[in-house]
Amino acid sequence: MKKVLTVLLVLVMAMSLFAGCGSDGGTENESVKVGILQLMEHPSLNTIRESIIEGLADAGYVDGDNMVIDYQNGQNDMTIMKTAAQTFVANGCDVIIAIATPAAQAVLSETTEIPIVFAAVTDPVDAGLVDSLEQPGGNVTGTSDEVSAEMIMNLAEEITPGFKTIGALYSSGEDNSASVIAGLKAYADAKGLKVVESAVTNSSEVQQAAQYLADKVDVVYSPIDNTVASAMAVATEVFNSQKIPFYVSADSMVADGGLATYGIDYTVLGKETGAMVAQVLGGEDPAGIPVKKMSDMSVYINQNTADAIGVEFPQAVLDRAQVLGE
Ligand code: TRP
Repeated sequence: MKKVLTVLLVLVMAMSLFAGCGSDGGTENESVKVGILQLMEHPSLNTIRESIIEGLADAGYVDGDNMVIDYQNGQNDMTIMKTAAQTFVANGCDVIIAIATPAAQAVLSETTEIPIVFAAVTDPVDAGLVDSLEQPGGNVTGTSDEVSAEMIMNLAEEITPGFKTIGALYSSGEDNSASVIAGLKAYADAKGLKVVESAVTNSSEVQQAAQYLADKVDVVYSPIDNTVASAMAVATEVFNSQKIPFYVSADSMVADGGLATYGIDYTVLGKETGAMVAQVLGGEDPAGIPVKKMSDMSVYINQNTADAIGVEFPQAVLDRAQVLGE
């Protein structure tokens, strides 16, 4: 009899270990189950994930202690993300964290019941995730990293004045980029500048798209685009060799070779997201938790890139910039 019980116990423990979101290491009653779906792995999204976990720890939820995290890398693939989201739902996660716009869209399409907290979604309304930033309405809330194209182009005017044509390098499959590109066109129209677009569908197309632009434009701009962020090495190689200033939209993209940006601090965003997840785990309804936008912004510049293309930063920029990529 004792033997049967032991076998049963071992079986139950083994099952709970293989249950993904349902795994709790044997502290069934105390551990909360958290699924994290990250669109893909690039430096900024990795920073966000690590900071979310720190923010959760600050709020008393410690991975492997009273919380079990099931982390899934979406590999920038809708099919993979859909499957991951379905697994989270089937395993009964208490909350699902979605990092970046397409990941949040994939998770929301699988559940309108389980609370979802998204991180770094540029335009949550446009992406169809929430009714409004103030009153999300459904089972979803989170943080936004919205920055306007106009602010970055104003910085571009300060660093490399007099450009007439702007190349727009972005992914046509990311809703987070679409709304920012609309803003870029409005800016260009108002200033009498020309925009040449080059849209990609995956990172393997970035080199060719960059080359196409380098032959036609004075400067290039990329929004907070995941596909471009994951292919910065090839993009900057093209632009640096042809001495084209490449303005980007996130600190990590400057660290990875972009010339400059005016953007938010993703460590702060991640921690804020973690705090919101803790709120939801504490029983608050996401429907009534406003989406949080980051208000602290900084100028980030890459001195190596400037040297490579022969650009000198004006003193007024140097005075307020954080230098990355050294
Ligand atoms: N804002 C992006 C989105 O909505 C995600 C993102 C966060 C990102 N940090 C980034 C994209 C840095 C490119 C570079 O999907």
